[in-house]
Amino acid sequence: MCGIIGYVGREAATPILLAGLKRLEYRGYDSAGIAILHDGELSIRRSVGKLHNLETVLQDGSLQGSIGIGHTRWATHGRPSEQNAHPHRSGDIVLVHNGIIENFLTLKYRLESEGYRFESETDTEVIAHLIASIVRRGLKLEEAVRLVSQELHGSYAIAVMSVSEPGRIFVSRSGCPLVVGRNDHGTFLASDVTPLLAHTRDVTFLDDGDIGLLTESDIFILGPNGEAKPRQIVTIDWDAEAAEKGGFQDFMIKEIHEQPQVISDTLRGRFNYELGEADLPDLAMTNEELINARRIWIVACGTSWHSGLVGKYLFEEMLRRPVQVDIGSEFRYRQPMIQKDDLFIAISQSGETADTLAAAREAKRLGARVLAIVNVVGSTLAREADGVIFTRCGPEISVASTKAFTGQVVALYLLALHVGRVRNVLSPEEGRWWLDHFLMLPGHVEQVLKQEEAIKAVAAAYYEKRNFLYLGRGINYPIALEGALKLKEISYIHAEGYAAGEMKHGPIALIDEDMPVVVLSPKDRLYDKSVNNLMEVRARNAPVIAFVTEGDRQLDRLADYVLSIPEVHPLLTPILFAVELQLLAYHVAVMRGLDVDKPRNLAKSVTVE
Ligand code: G6P
Repeated sequence: MCGIIGYVGREAATPILLAGLKRLEYRGYDSAGIAILHDGELSIRRSVGKLHNLETVLQDGSLQGSIGIGHTRWATHGRPSEQNAHPHRSGDIVLVHNGIIENFLTLKYRLESEGYRFESETDTEVIAHLIASIVRRGLKLEEAVRLVSQELHGSYAIAVMSVSEPGRIFVSRSGCPLVVGRNDHGTFLASDVTPLLAHTRDVTFLDDGDIGLLTESDIFILGPNGEAKPRQIVTIDWDAEAAEKGGFQDFMIKEIHEQPQVISDTLRGRFNYELGEADLPDLAMTNEELINARRIWIVACGTSWHSGLVGKYLFEEMLRRPVQVDIGSEFRYRQPMIQKDDLFIAISQSGETADTLAAAREAKRLGARVLAIVNVVGSTLAREADGVIFTRCGPEISVASTKAFTGQVVALYLLALHVGRVRNVLSPEEGRWWLDHFLMLPGHVEQVLKQEEAIKAVAAAYYEKRNFLYLGRGINYPIALEGALKLKEISYIHAEGYAAGEMKHGPIALIDEDMPVVVLSPKDRLYDKSVNNLMEVRARNAPVIAFVTEGDRQLDRLADYVLSIPEVHPLLTPILFAVELQLLAYHVAVMRGLDVDKPRNLAKSVTVE
């Protein structure tokens, strides 16, 4: 959840570290800090709150030097405060940490009994003292980092410097992402690739247990026993530009508008039109394996879980195959009845979500084939899965996920088509029909985006309300959940997503004239039932915002606002409604004057349980 960064080279480190932290701020923004090592002196600056507070502190230009580490924090152990902000120091040692040390209390008591005094409430400080205690025994920093790694339980990515070994930064990881890269003026480390893109596109992802050494001119990777490992270089084709706002006010609205492109990119080169088939070369599963897969599981968290739920409706309706969908944190602890040869699909934008990763590892241990639908190339999930479908969304910076969701649903369409053709449930003609309609989706999303002004008017009418209810049925029930999640994440309005048919079993008690109700009513076989639900809401005087299929005028007089999506096959409606609900949540949050890209208490990538 936190972000770490580091640089050693010939340029001034502070601006490089600040620019990098800016890119990592989505991982947490409770505090930020930087440590610079210069002329045998260690200087640290830390600030509570978002990065610009630290930038203000650093405006005096007092942090000079060309080697340093930095951190942006999402608080776990200890409240957001300057004392708890990283970097943490113990004598000559200074470090930054992303992750959670589960045995920190045992280690802390031991260190306290040895005379170490703790200045913060963090778990991180134990790592600094532990390393310092080993270095004091006369060992080199590299050895100290290795020995400490063996003592730590939990998850971490750390970057460490020592006054006694200037010009070197050591990094180590277990369970948290860490990537390094180099150009001709220095070497870089970060929690993900986005800060590195301004400097290099050739990067190396560390494996769990690896230790990395960064010097001004080179990077060395050592395995858990100190053995030198070849540096595996991955070339990232995202450009730095893609991680900029490109003229939009926030990343979220930029990312919402990128969705037509995301759909095209995710589909590109992944089908054979003649055969009516999807072409997914990284699936790493033979047709026999797909045919023999006994059960299909989908596991994910947050917004990715909602795309997984869409996947369930899709697979069951399009392929007549039952699918079990689970939340990562539930799956991993409930002794799932997964078996050898089951197909286990893990969906994750970041590929680093701790609960999704743990679930995928458990599935693999039990013999399932693990397929990852993931956005970040080189992420832990992408590397550990047997097969992968990359969503090609580019970097998603806004904490609230939008384009990643769309990319995931498109990947599920491709997978459904592939399985359908392999299992002969779909004929080549049917395959081509689906491809034609997938390929029309970018245009349909463009149409939906043109309704932004109309959606803004809805936001203006209701942005001061305190509760919202979202209702959907069938494949749009997950979209009701997603719409409500978007609204609560960024506007802090309480919002519930419900299966429309379930409303009468509870939420109807909440409905009054002060609770806007969003109803998703596409022209599908459940249309009349959705209209019934809308009438029930109306009868209780709630404001109604209906999302319908273009041309449907029936609800004009029943709803306060009616917005539409182009007419498409019912299974293709979720992306279109999702985009409309993203816009609604976005404009409500903007009207409430909130920081849309960095909602309070949240983090983009949840690498702890
Ligand atoms: C966090 C983010 C969500 C995201 C979820 C799963 O909660 O704030 O936007 O949906 O993690 O993340 P993943 O990277 O696994 O898709």
